[in-house]
Amino acid sequence: MKRLYHPVVILIASICALGGLLFGYDTGVISGAILLIRREFSLDPSTVEIVVSAVLVGAIIGSCSAGRLADKYGRRPVILVCAFLFAIGSIWTALSESSETLVAGRVIVGLAIGAASFVVPLYLSEISPPQIRGGLVSLNQLAITVGILVSYLVDLAFAEIGSWRGMMIAALLPSSVLAIGMFFLSESPRWLLKKGREEDAKRALMRVLEASDVPNEIAAIRGSLQHQAGTLRDLFEARLRPALIIGLGLAFFQQATGINTVIYYAPTLFQMSGLSGDIVPIIASVGIGIVNVALTCVAVSLLDRVGRRPLILTGLIGMALSLALLGFAFHSDAKGGALGIIAVISMMFYIASFAISLGPGFWLLISEIYPLKIRGVAMSVATAFSWMINFLVASTFLTLIQRFGPAATFWLFAIMTAFAWLFCLIFVPETKGKTLEEIEAHWG
Ligand code: BGC
Repeated sequence: MKRLYHPVVILIASICALGGLLFGYDTGVISGAILLIRREFSLDPSTVEIVVSAVLVGAIIGSCSAGRLADKYGRRPVILVCAFLFAIGSIWTALSESSETLVAGRVIVGLAIGAASFVVPLYLSEISPPQIRGGLVSLNQLAITVGILVSYLVDLAFAEIGSWRGMMIAALLPSSVLAIGMFFLSESPRWLLKKGREEDAKRALMRVLEASDVPNEIAAIRGSLQHQAGTLRDLFEARLRPALIIGLGLAFFQQATGINTVIYYAPTLFQMSGLSGDIVPIIASVGIGIVNVALTCVAVSLLDRVGRRPLILTGLIGMALSLALLGFAFHSDAKGGALGIIAVISMMFYIASFAISLGPGFWLLISEIYPLKIRGVAMSVATAFSWMINFLVASTFLTLIQRFGPAATFWLFAIMTAFAWLFCLIFVPETKGKTLEEIEAHWG
């Protein structure tokens, strides 16, 4: 039985989970900032859309390009570059004097978000002892949800003094802590061994395992390095096709079941359902943010105990039911404030169900299922795909509502969720408690 140096591992994980915090903060912050930006630069609706989605375009590019870099130069330098990009992006956007420079700044932030979104869980899964890997990797998802919540609160605070620049510059603090912290962390032992740097790999493993366990671990990692060629083409090889399908499928369903229609548009949805004024919908959104964080904490503690599959399958049922209920509420056009109440309750239930299932589940599984030799590139493919679907859903959601109405739109997401459930039931393996090398052996 391995003795785990939990405090050290958790400290390492917390530092790089700041990458997740910035991911959440920088995606959430725009929802409040855009109201002020629109006024200051007198933006028309289509420019507003460009400002909002610039970050997603950057994230697609960032996640596509950083996979190779993480495999070639290591996980740690890529996280460091992300920290610098987050910092530069935050200063740049805060100082922007036109919508064009603001868009450019948001693309820079997006590059960092895209790269960090897969390299942080990748690094976390490679430094984690198997018994606590689910919880540790999901610290990243917890950090994302905390980042989103903090962004709503910072938006509220700066909205009072009308300063969207303050909202942007606030990201400088966690970016700096991440950059400084990363200087003290070692590279992923698995990546080091892949590069033949055995002594460095040993040293890195000593920080997270008991010394007597290190030789076994080195042997296991080395074994997993032997039987593959290690190119992106391998991902399309028959043996790894299931892993490819699972990664892309989870990426698709995590986004196509509508999570970011709630995260990005919660205040708008609450207004549509009859909650009046500007403040009540924002407070309700903060409530959504709190439920998201709270239930992600529950997921972090359960993933390594009950396993990935039961949580994902149960959460998906909750998501489907709450989306269906939301659709019915809009369909029946409930009166007398009832619609608003049903909307708040079903969105809370939806976000809670997401937080115990696809929220952490997607990032965790894609950090576990791919063989070491192609892990960086394969994760970046799944992540880039997720950002593309995110972009597609976010940019068509309001149009869908206008054309087909909210009821049909939410039912569409409910149907997607039913498909997601079937997909996970059939394809997703249980990875609880297995070493990454055992999971790898599972593919034959
Ligand atoms: C998703 C994001 C989403 C967030 C909400 C993440 O796992 O990838 O798109 O905004 O969860 O908590």
